[in-house]
Amino acid sequence: MPPRGKTMSTAIPEFDTDPFSHDSVRNARAVDDRLREFAPVVRLAGEDNIVMLARFEHVAAGLRDWKTFSSTSRPWHDPNSVRPELLLTDDPPKHSRVRAVVASALSPAALSKMAAAFRTDADDLVAGLKARGEGAEVDAVADITQSFVYKVLPDLLGLPEKGREHLSAFGNMVWATMGPMNALFQETMASTGQPVIDWATEACKRENLLPGSLGMAMYEAADRGEITAEEAYLLVGILLSAAADTTVMTMATALQAFSQFPEQYDLVRADPTLIRAAFEESLRWDSPSRMAGRLAMRDVEIDGYVIPAGTRCGLMFAAANRDTRKWTDPDRFDVRRATAGHLGFGFGVHACVGRILALLEADALLGAICREIQAFEPAGPVEPWMTTIGHGPAKLPVALRFA
Ligand code: HEM
Repeated sequence: MPPRGKTMSTAIPEFDTDPFSHDSVRNARAVDDRLREFAPVVRLAGEDNIVMLARFEHVAAGLRDWKTFSSTSRPWHDPNSVRPELLLTDDPPKHSRVRAVVASALSPAALSKMAAAFRTDADDLVAGLKARGEGAEVDAVADITQSFVYKVLPDLLGLPEKGREHLSAFGNMVWATMGPMNALFQETMASTGQPVIDWATEACKRENLLPGSLGMAMYEAADRGEITAEEAYLLVGILLSAAADTTVMTMATALQAFSQFPEQYDLVRADPTLIRAAFEESLRWDSPSRMAGRLAMRDVEIDGYVIPAGTRCGLMFAAANRDTRKWTDPDRFDVRRATAGHLGFGFGVHACVGRILALLEADALLGAICREIQAFEPAGPVEPWMTTIGHGPAKLPVALRFA
């Protein structure tokens, strides 16, 4: 993107569809793909200060250039929402200081001791599935990926057992704050409410966390003066919300792909070193986050369109991950694809700091699944997660064939 200067600009075209309505969320892949092909820069109808970028080249460049595309605000930003304003909502240098604390607590060395616990939980879960018998019909989200992540993540964070049933509603609430305050937002807020906020508020406090846990590591960083105690508290909530549904959805999408492309599942079963590749391809194929929000800090020209300084921008990960300008046959789930550079974990200074944790969870759960389950057969309609920015199956009925 060229620096600020005088440019002949063309009016930014207006997209005729609200990408975040009920109908659009049900058809998110098609809507995002259509938006990407509509124009390189797209204005949303009824929103005079919001544009969307969805082509791989522009989304990647925008994520890389944090000085131009600041994280300090975003489309539909409400600074008083339940979403903690830290880390993902900061630019360097504040961002770098806080990120260093999280990155150290989530380093491969720090996480290696958790991998054994993940494997035990995964083996137990799959043994429970086997006990249901050949051909058992299960919901691969509720009974497999959510069941696993909603156990290992609060364990890792050191959260109390009591109240964990609120995790799903808490996730829905935080994800809702990333999109417009439309009908879907109102429905989520109406169905969750104060008890969920009260639970999250209490669960993330120091006195309620287990010693030696990831959550406690945030407070210990505060003891060392690396962050404040208030920042430590916010970080526990951020880790809880950032790590839960992203991982649930990515693994659920992988299982959906395994049922839709059984020959790809056979490849992974024959060579389990492909598990991480399958997980990364799941992220590319159908990313659980449709969009990141940023604020344009200067006029930016893209292909003759000028985005004025002060415009709120949606950088659309999922659409970019299926851009044919970058990917060959992007609708095909291909575990041998070279996925390096996909944007499912973001890119640039805010690229996902929990990537290794997510991969360790995938190693454990998808590993146990590959050993014990021979095939996933579709057993009913897939229901989408009805939220605006999050994406993936909310219900995925499958019949299990055991090895
Ligand atoms: C498959 C699972 C995951 C996916 C798809 C995912 C996706 C992402 C994406 C796209 C971003 C960048 C957002 C942006 O630029 O606006 C991000 C950032 C982040 N993720 Fe993840 N994530 C996953 C798992 C996790 C886990 C397991 C954790 C923590 C334990 C985590 C913690 C974070 C945090 C704290 C950030 C903010 C980083 C920063 O601002 O520097 N994520 N993630």
